[in-house]
Amino acid sequence: MKALYLAVIRFYASSIGKKMIVALSALGLLAFLLGHLAGNLLIFSGPDALNAYAAKLHGLGVFLWVPRLGLLGLVGVHIMATLHLAAQNRAARPQEYVADATLRATRSSRMMVLSGLTILAFIIYHLLHFTVGNLHGFHDDNGVYRLADGSMNVYKMMVVAFGVWFNSLFYLVALTLLGSHLSHGVSSLFQTLGFTTPRTRPLYTWVGRLFAVAICGGFASIPVAVLAGFLK
Ligand code: HEM
Repeated sequence: MKALYLAVIRFYASSIGKKMIVALSALGLLAFLLGHLAGNLLIFSGPDALNAYAAKLHGLGVFLWVPRLGLLGLVGVHIMATLHLAAQNRAARPQEYVADATLRATRSSRMMVLSGLTILAFIIYHLLHFTVGNLHGFHDDNGVYRLADGSMNVYKMMVVAFGVWFNSLFYLVALTLLGSHLSHGVSSLFQTLGFTTPRTRPLYTWVGRLFAVAICGGFASIPVAVLAGFLK
């Protein structure tokens, strides 16, 4: 038991160990994003499809806290390992930049920290907006976001929220930053997991970009469709 504990500590202490933890927690977060996007896109199938999906999720009751706590753990581990890695890299960095590549890598990881922090701020706002807000009746004084059977009218909640242009604009800005984070993150993930060779690096850069555009474009399609009057 002690040997396992020491092995874990030694693994985490190494730079590659921390990178692995960042990459594996990112995989879990990507799985959440894909699932969340698939659920949200039900809005294009109409109010009944989206509201039935939301009712099924809420029907899990306290068991909904299992994936929620898992998600919270993944976010916590991802941020902690990233910050430790950044501190370790800073301590190991030479005072003067000797090569362009070092400077570029530093800029790109600074951008990752900045976009990551913005995504964190977005998630806190998003939870207050849709999860805490609706669960505690914040938006709901007139009963407009409830169906006759008392379940949530998530369809209406989204359409009303994104009908306010500055709300949609805020989401679109946050999604653009998420796109930047995902584009770089996904291509780095292949590198950390050992798939990238100098020959295949450009391919994985493109995989990262396409993935980011698909995920963020998918999420962005909802506020855009509401603003365009396609979803009412
Ligand atoms: C247009 C884009 C998005 C829409 C319309 C949307 C919609 C929603 C809604 C309606 C909920 C509340 C679910 C409920 O309690 O019934 C929710 C929860 C959540 N969303 Fe989003 N979301 C979007 C983008 C995102 C993005 C980009 C992220 C992450 C970066 C994200 C992370 C979360 C998280 C962590 C929860 C809490 C899950 C839970 O309470 O179990 N969402 N979202």
